[in-house]
Amino acid sequence: MTVAHTRDELHQARAALSGTVGVTMTMGALHAGHAELIKRAREDVDHVIVTIFLNPLQFAPGEDLSRYPRTFDDDVALCEEYGAALVFAPTPDVVYPDGEPGIRVSAGELGSVLEGASRPGHFDGVLTVVAKLMHLTRPDAAYFGQKDAQQLLLIRRMVRDLDFPTRIVPVATVREPDGLALSSRNTYLSQSDREVALSLSRALNAGAEMAEAGPAAIRRAARDVLVREPLVLVDYLVLVHPTTLQEVPEWYRGPALLAVAGKVGTTRLIDNLPLVVG
Ligand code: PAJ
Repeated sequence: MTVAHTRDELHQARAALSGTVGVTMTMGALHAGHAELIKRAREDVDHVIVTIFLNPLQFAPGEDLSRYPRTFDDDVALCEEYGAALVFAPTPDVVYPDGEPGIRVSAGELGSVLEGASRPGHFDGVLTVVAKLMHLTRPDAAYFGQKDAQQLLLIRRMVRDLDFPTRIVPVATVREPDGLALSSRNTYLSQSDREVALSLSRALNAGAEMAEAGPAAIRRAARDVLVREPLVLVDYLVLVHPTTLQEVPEWYRGPALLAVAGKVGTTRLIDNLPLVVG
């Protein structure tokens, strides 16, 4: 496995890969969720590239960029263990040689709801770096987690709207045995925070159990779980259409996304469950 830090190192290593190439983009602090993306890619393509880049462009001032966990040596070991061919781990000045880019990808309206409403500009920063990393790594396929459902949807839209020649492959959310969705940010949680955080996935499951009873019952069941856990500061709990991200009406039947975001202590967590209503 090659580890490339500069553009030259990347281009040289990329040129040496013959056959199909898949990419898994990450911000490091790798866990079993990231490993699953690499594993999935390995089943599909000849070579897997993992990018490790903590992208400052997608963090607003006051967010957790400075305290985001950095575990580079362990990350490289995980990539090696799961059979990646190449790790691209650039510094910000390699990705943004002229400083913050004046030209960016705009996520549009879909980028301004849910996560985008709480984190203005976040998805422009995500799409801009994903576009750049696509151009730099030139993958046939790219693997993204359902854990970040809105991000996945926006990347699919960008690829379609801007004619990227890359296939986007979704990978289901990897969870702890007790249901907590794996996240690099879980390392911020104390043991008691972690117990509190479990109510997010419990709420989603309670909602999903009511899937046949319709939107109102789903929302009520999920909300009832969160109401009983006052230590979660809920940002949103919504049942939305999976491609418009608009709340579905009471008569709606079909695929939907039950999504939640909230703060546990100082840590903002998100989770979601795709389900079929009715
Ligand atoms: P990061 O949070 O490191 O996540 C990298 C990829 O891993 C994303 O596709 C994310 O959805 C996926 N992932 C995270 N937790 C997961 C879980 N529990 N199960 C399955 N997949 C999971 O998302 C980003 O980085 C960045 O925004 C990035 C796309 C790299 C752009 O900077």
